Amino acid sequence: SWLLLGHESLLPKPGDFITTYMAEDKVILSHQQDGSFRAFINSCTHRGNQICHADSGNAKAFVCNYHGWVYGQDGSLVDVPLETRCYHGQLDKAKLGAKHVRVETYKGFIFGCGDADAPSLEEFLGEFRWYLDTIWEGAGGGLELLGPPMKSLLACNWKVPTENFVGDGYHVGWTHAGALAQIGGELAGLSGNRADLPFESLGYQFTTRHGHGFGVINNAAPAIHVKRDGWAKYLADTRAEVGRKFGPEREELYVGHWNCSIFPSCSFLYGTNTFKVWHPRGPH
Ligand code: FES
Ligand SMILES: [Fe+2]
Repeated sequence: SWLLLGHESLLPKPGDFITTYMAEDKVILSHQQDGSFRAFINSCTHRGNQICHADSGNAKAFVCNYHGWVYGQDGSLVDVPLETRCYHGQLDKAKLGAKHVRVETYKGFIFGCGDADAPSLEEFLGEFRWYLDTIWEGAGGGLELLGPPMKSLLACNWKVPTENFVGDGYHVGWTHAGALAQIGGELAGLSGNRADLPFESLGYQFTTRHGHGFGVINNAAPAIHVKRDGWAKYLADTRAEVGRKFGPEREELYVGHWNCSIFPSCSFLYGTNTFKVWHPRGPH
């Protein structure tokens, strides 16, 4: 599978990096001098020490704090202290770069994959791209992720939240009853899950073949922000452009609220605008 590593807006300049995980493997994602992105396992090829301990930053090189082996921005091994005295010309640095991870991007989102033979990221996202383009490209500016991320631990199988994000519209009126009542307007009727609303026209949910999917509540993106109208105004100002580019169905999606997952490691809410990455911790 392709796992979300980050978004270009989190590391905009050459030398910028973030550290993250692919499953339980620590990974460095690094912005190259040529503008591309590379990812490599955050483990020194000497004795396996963690190469980089920062969450993010800008670095000319990564220096292991155990014996000082130096890795370039692309993960290649560029310097070894006392190389001649310790290794007598026997060390093949070209073979000892940090282990590379395959990286591909889609509309600014950067994904990594451990399998060189796996289908491309575009193929993996498949027909779900039709939906994602609506907001990942939107009116033209795409998305920006603002960090640093908030982190929390969930005591459950790591794929449970991904599945839950795709398909639980049922909880909205109950779990968020107080918030919906406070927001008022079009959404107040959902509060408490008691009113007999025309649910068939309120929205829908679906999953695609690879497990990606979403639920949408029609018109809810501006409705949620009715008391802070900057976002509602932005949507009103840009929806016609989205309609021109993507057609009327996706213009409607553009102003809906989405609960969405890209299986297995990424979920996001559009409308309330949060992105999540799920990482497993141990066998359970
Ligand atoms: S473990 Fe990294 S330099 Fe030795
Ligand atoms: Fe919720």
